Amino acid sequence: QVGQDMTYLVNDSCIKCKHTDCVEVCPVDCFYEGENMLVISPDECIDCGVCVPECPEDAIISDNDDSLKESSVDWLAYNTNKSAEWPNITEKQDPYPEYEKYQIMEDRIKFLDE
Ligand code: SF4
Ligand code: F3S
Repeated sequence: QVGQDMTYLVNDSCIKCKHTDCVEVCPVDCFYEGENMLVISPDECIDCGVCVPECPEDAIISDNDDSLKESSVDWLAYNTNKSAEWPNITEKQDPYPEYEKYQIMEDRIKFLDE
């Protein structure tokens, strides 16, 4: 992503958890909500990082995070594409039902586009 601004991204650790603490603190309201997870709009994110410590699942990562190289999903593309489709979310809501069951699953990525 040479020449582009950095951004933060949401990864699979958000899947079926959706605590939504992140949306309350974002100064530019750049979170978007899907059925199973939230994404960040890379075009709108100002890379402030304040959402990162708010997430109990550590699901928000920088786009230069090493884990991105190992992931089967291109999270930059996913966040970019889905933020253009999904509705904006700015207010905290209840977490995903039974998120306790899902947050310990290693392979939540299988629910990605469910
Ligand atoms: Fe919003 Fe800042 Fe998080 Fe980007 S890094 S999503 S601007 S709170
Ligand atoms: Fe998801 Fe974490 Fe926000 S679980 S909804 S990225 S607080």
